[in-house]
Amino acid sequence: MGSAHSLAIVHPMPTPRTTSTPLHIAALSGSPSARSRSTALLQLALMSLESEAASQHLIAVRELPAVALVSADVQEPEIRAAADAIARADLVIVATPIYKAAYSGLLKTFLDLLPQDALRGKTVLPLATGGSAAHLLALDYTLKPVLAALGARHVLDGVFATDAQLQAHETGYVPDPALLERLDRALQGLAEDAPRCRPVRAASLAR
Ligand SMILES: Cc1cc2nc3c(=O)[nH]c(=O)nc-3n(C[C@H](O)[C@H](O)[C@H](O)COP(=O)(O)O)c2cc1C
Repeated sequence: MGSAHSLAIVHPMPTPRTTSTPLHIAALSGSPSARSRSTALLQLALMSLESEAASQHLIAVRELPAVALVSADVQEPEIRAAADAIARADLVIVATPIYKAAYSGLLKTFLDLLPQDALRGKTVLPLATGGSAAHLLALDYTLKPVLAALGARHVLDGVFATDAQLQAHETGYVPDPALLERLDRALQGLAEDAPRCRPVRAASLAR
């Protein structure tokens, strides 16, 4: 057993090529924080899928132009590029912190700019982190209805992590083994949903 894997914070994602039919992945981070647990969880999912991805596009909503976001300027080039990345994706991973028992308002500012059927025909994996396990179901009762309203019909089991399950480390966050197992299970659901995608076990990334 080697040392625990530590997760970096937000940075541009690599674009690995694969030998099997590859997936285009859009990863949406809805945290306002530069040092973000939910983004770390998102990155862990991306690392698990790296070898099967044609492209990975990380959209950090906090880095999009604020005025364009709040004034719903869908023609703004960075907003348009982000929406195009969602449109091209086979798999959309949506990560959010839990704020006031729901997904973040920042995430909603972006989701509100997407076309009505933006998630139709795509597989969606919801991820969240929260301070308390008491809000474990917030993904189900707040985010999933919004995903459904955007046309998502293939929504994988969400993964919720408490802050204690992502321990702060100098360069990022160290995931708890139980969290890695839950992420693995969710990603196995992806393999069933999209058989061409065979994710690397997240737990193995921690060895
Ligand atoms: C304004 C605010 C509201 C929050 N509300 C909740 C909450 O209702 N339930 C909860 O479990 N955690 C809550 N938290 C804690 C965050 O969800 C938690 O620390 C999360 O991991 C932060 O994710 P991030 O680092 O990606 O931003 C709140 C934090 C803030 C700053």
